[in-house]
Amino acid sequence: MKQRSLYIKTFGCQMNKRDSEIIEQLLFPCGFLPAAEMEAADLVILNTCSIRAKAEQKVFSLLGQIKQWKLSRPEMRVAVTGCVAQQEGEKIFRRMPHVDLVVGTQQIYRIPELIRQLDAGETSGRLAVDLDKKFTIPPYQALSPAPHEFKKFITIMQGCDNYCSYCVVPATRGRETSRPLADILDEANLLVAQGVREITLLGQNVNSYGKTNPVAETPVDFAALLHKVAAIDGLERLRFTTSNPKDLSDELIRCFTEINILCPHFHLPVQSGSDRVLARMNRKYTVAGYLEKVEKLLDCRPDIALSTDIIVGFPGESEQDFEGTMKLLDTVRYHGSFSFKYSDRPGTRSASFDNKVDEKVKSERLNRFQKRQNEISLARNKEYVNTTLDIMVEGMADPQLFQGRSTTNHIVHFPPPAGGKLQEGDTIRVHIQHAGRHSLTGTAAEEEI
Ligand code: 5AD
Ligand code: SF4
Repeated sequence: MKQRSLYIKTFGCQMNKRDSEIIEQLLFPCGFLPAAEMEAADLVILNTCSIRAKAEQKVFSLLGQIKQWKLSRPEMRVAVTGCVAQQEGEKIFRRMPHVDLVVGTQQIYRIPELIRQLDAGETSGRLAVDLDKKFTIPPYQALSPAPHEFKKFITIMQGCDNYCSYCVVPATRGRETSRPLADILDEANLLVAQGVREITLLGQNVNSYGKTNPVAETPVDFAALLHKVAAIDGLERLRFTTSNPKDLSDELIRCFTEINILCPHFHLPVQSGSDRVLARMNRKYTVAGYLEKVEKLLDCRPDIALSTDIIVGFPGESEQDFEGTMKLLDTVRYHGSFSFKYSDRPGTRSASFDNKVDEKVKSERLNRFQKRQNEISLARNKEYVNTTLDIMVEGMADPQLFQGRSTTNHIVHFPPPAGGKLQEGDTIRVHIQHAGRHSLTGTAAEEEI
């Protein structure tokens, strides 16, 4: 079989990163091996994100660059996959005629077949963007990890039915569909048997696993799924992302006391600290309801680290609404957050709302929010100084320093322990001595004794 080189550039979320891994695995048996550089690759795949206008602009500017390369190497093939592919479909060919293949979010399994069609001389400009209600990840055999990997993501559901008024995801990823339980457990068992020690369950809103379009084999809710995955012998850490607070159940909260390998970190996007804005966002919870859930989580697991997503400058957001967001930030004191300026997305309800907030005001609010978050993150990190944490080794930060992650998802640096040989995926206790905004530093606890 002819060997060719493949370069996949991934934009956006963890879901897309997982899809890119799957694409790479699907193309391996067709003779595609990873290329070191995009410019020299035989096949370039842009796995795209359209969550904000900026993410989409990045894709089109990279496609402009690729056009120049393709002029000197016409045999280079270019594919666009992911959310921009789903959203724009064949418009991409009109705007970027050098693109050979446009493949939507639910059609990635057809990529090998589509490449074969191009190889056989069928016309360029192949398009596959159908969205349907079926879960499209095939059973686990095709999805095994590379030999050295110790942490992996498992997709447990696709799509989203929540229709937050600002969000393009229901249009780009289709209806919410839970993956059959048996497939998830098969994949998790396979991964652990191959040496994986940490699993993150992945979906747009994992809290509603099993609720919408439950397939016959999926009689469980998310809390029950967590229990089943956690029972796999040899698994050391279990995480999940991402959650909509409206579906955060008491059963799920209790999992943080009942499941000892469930990591005490919860990413719970709130989006705004104003009830008026939350209603216009169609989030279906209030600030008080959200805080009640946060309190229950902290009652259950006082050491849980919370993070969130925030949108500033949603249409009609007043200064007072924004102050609500700042107040919420000071109430919860998130360990970290991702914050974004609102941007209109095609086909969303909020794109047609009036009272759009001025760009300058959005920038000013984002700066204020991020400045305060930075102060809080540093103060939160300092709370770990003089404590001892379990750290799973991820690699070397530099030749003298190991890098690992705490169960609370903090990055921790520490010098190699005397005499001990550490490998990626090993867990070691580290005594924390310093805290920065982005990481903690310490020494292996054994050395202290
Ligand atoms: N504008 C700005 N931010 C957005 N997000 C989603 N849609 C938009 C939009 N139209 C943010 C939300 C979400 C995160 C993944 O991206 O905060 O949680
Ligand atoms: Fe981007 Fe959302 Fe698509 Fe992920 S699901 S790639 S965040 S638009």
